[in-house]
Amino acid sequence: MTEPKVLEVADLTVEFPTEDGVVRAVRGVSWTLGAGETLGIVGESGSGKSVTSLAVMGLLPAAARVRGSVRFAGRELLGLSEEALSDVRGQGISMIFQDPMTSLNPVYTAGHQIIETLRAHRRGMSRQAARERAVELLDIVGIPSPAQRVDSYPHELSGGMRQRIVIAIAIANDPEVIIADEPTTALDVTVQAQVLEALERATDETGAALLLITHDLGVIAGHADRVGIMYAGKLVETGTVEDIFYTPRMPYTLGLLGSLPRMDRPEGRLTPIAGSPPSLLNLPPGCPFTPRCPLAADVCDATEPPLIGTGRPGHDAACHFHDRLVDAAAGEVFATTSADAGGEGSAP
Ligand SMILES: Nc1ncnc2c1ncn2[C@@H]1O[C@H](COP(=O)(O)OP(=O)(O)OP(=O)(O)O)[C@@H](O)[C@H]1O
Ligand code: SF4
Ligand SMILES: [Mg+2]
Repeated sequence: MTEPKVLEVADLTVEFPTEDGVVRAVRGVSWTLGAGETLGIVGESGSGKSVTSLAVMGLLPAAARVRGSVRFAGRELLGLSEEALSDVRGQGISMIFQDPMTSLNPVYTAGHQIIETLRAHRRGMSRQAARERAVELLDIVGIPSPAQRVDSYPHELSGGMRQRIVIAIAIANDPEVIIADEPTTALDVTVQAQVLEALERATDETGAALLLITHDLGVIAGHADRVGIMYAGKLVETGTVEDIFYTPRMPYTLGLLGSLPRMDRPEGRLTPIAGSPPSLLNLPPGCPFTPRCPLAADVCDATEPPLIGTGRPGHDAACHFHDRLVDAAAGEVFATTSADAGGEGSAP
């Protein structure tokens, strides 16, 4: 039996007409999110991660041209009225942004903001019951002394504590899907880990599925079931965490893995991918990773590779030479290229 899908994105395309031309921010992206599942979306800055999530939430500017399909619990969201969408946003899908202060109102206490969210959707809920539930929610997300903290204002809390409040608000209405867009990027490393744990407890408690967006593959490792790697507005590799970490089939994924601190190597340092992503205005034909790819050949300049099966169920890659990566150990392809190219961002 296949698990029910709560969110299904099919061939999603988002373009922004600008004075300089059309920015093709998302170029035909498809993925599904099963009930209770965590899907990690990983990619460098500008790869289309946030635009994808804003399209799902119906929060793109009016000028954006959106095509494809976004189905929540079987219902098409693209083209819904603002009123219908705001119902879905309130109850079905919650969103957590990078900076908690964009979601919190500085003039109200944490408790007030959670209570308002609870009562907005449960008209009969008494103020006392809502307050008790707010304290429970603060406890779930790991806020110490929740009965006292419920009366704190955002400015009295640390960044990590504020993000926990945002998570508590996000689960207050028992959503089926939580979209967390770089929820820990603004926090320091130890606090990041704690906030990710809080997010995991929140999804365990509510059974919500999670779309976890990040530029950091390390964040995904302990928290996602499946992963989608984005590059230049497309998914370029999808698979389980094991597929992506142990048998990557797209050179860009290898590059991201090479960018992780390698504890198993004496030098244990970061190896960034040389070069930078292409502009999404006037993308040339061919594979957008060509200028940075150690395996690039003539066919890569001519034809953009489709996302196709690698032979393992659910593990797809967009690379003409995905089968050449079979025995390539993560990092080695890039270690050679960086030294050869000596280009910007190469390893010392
Ligand atoms: N309103 C807009 N008008 C024009 N271009 C836009 C608009 N919003 C986003 N873009 C462009 O779309 C592309 C994808 O942006 P997006 O914000 O999705 O990237 P991202 O993967 O979330 O990056 P980051 O890691 O920096 O958050 C970028 O080139 C960005 O400049
Ligand atoms: S298609 Fe070519 S350029 Fe693109 S990732 Fe594969 S080998 Fe590299
Ligand atoms: Mg973003």
